[in-house]
Amino acid sequence: MPDLLHVKVFRYNPESDIAPKYDNFEVPVFNNMAILDVVMHIQNYMDRSLSFRFSCRIGMCGSCAMYVNGRARLACRTQVSALKTQNITIMPLPNFPIIRDLVVAMAPFFEKWKKIKPYYLPKKEISEPVTVRPDSKEREFIDDMLDCISCGCCYSACSMVATNKEYLGPAALNRAYTLIADKRDAIRVERLKVVDRSYGVWRCHTQFNCAEACPKNIVPTRSIQNLKRRCVLKKFGIFK
Ligand code: SF4
Ligand code: SF4
Ligand code: FES
Repeated sequence: MPDLLHVKVFRYNPESDIAPKYDNFEVPVFNNMAILDVVMHIQNYMDRSLSFRFSCRIGMCGSCAMYVNGRARLACRTQVSALKTQNITIMPLPNFPIIRDLVVAMAPFFEKWKKIKPYYLPKKEISEPVTVRPDSKEREFIDDMLDCISCGCCYSACSMVATNKEYLGPAALNRAYTLIADKRDAIRVERLKVVDRSYGVWRCHTQFNCAEACPKNIVPTRSIQNLKRRCVLKKFGIFK
């Protein structure tokens, strides 16, 4: 591993800058250094005005997602050594409005989650808590899909999001599927109506960019394909 990293960082303050620019920094390397350590070093010792977001530092909160050397990654879980180069370019996630430097506005992303009502609503006739066994087929089928930390990496990688701002996008659709697959949910049909639109599942071109970008190894494309299947079943009155 080299002693120094050559780091190029995207800088932009929409309130004061006419255009974005890149700043260059030489950052000393230490063992097990992550990209989050790189930006923290810059902020602590080189330029206190550098803005970025993070919280948990253990890959759980999803707030540190950045675009590093050409792909979306969680800064706290991306080891510098894994990039296999001393040249690092750090940018904000594509497909999001920029608040400042590496901080993007997540509001448009979560507005789309709101459309699919991302919370479980039990059927009225269920008065007692009904458990779904962890080893049941129903639970196993959506097991990996439930690991979403709403980091936005998939959304930033989706070319359909880039070309159509109305498209619900991979993360919201993945969440919708986990709820629609739950037979205890009271509004499964209503949720399906929301995704069965031109800005819903039918906008997805099954290119798997979202799956490649997901740091939790979720395949939103698979959830979207399952949703498409259920939309067709609904048309024939088979899905209730
Ligand atoms: S598979 Fe669909 S949701 Fe995923 S990146 Fe491609 S178009 Fe977007
Ligand atoms: S599906 Fe993966 S990439 Fe997309 S928001 Fe969830 S964790 Fe992040
Ligand atoms: S800081 Fe929470 S996922 Fe990176």
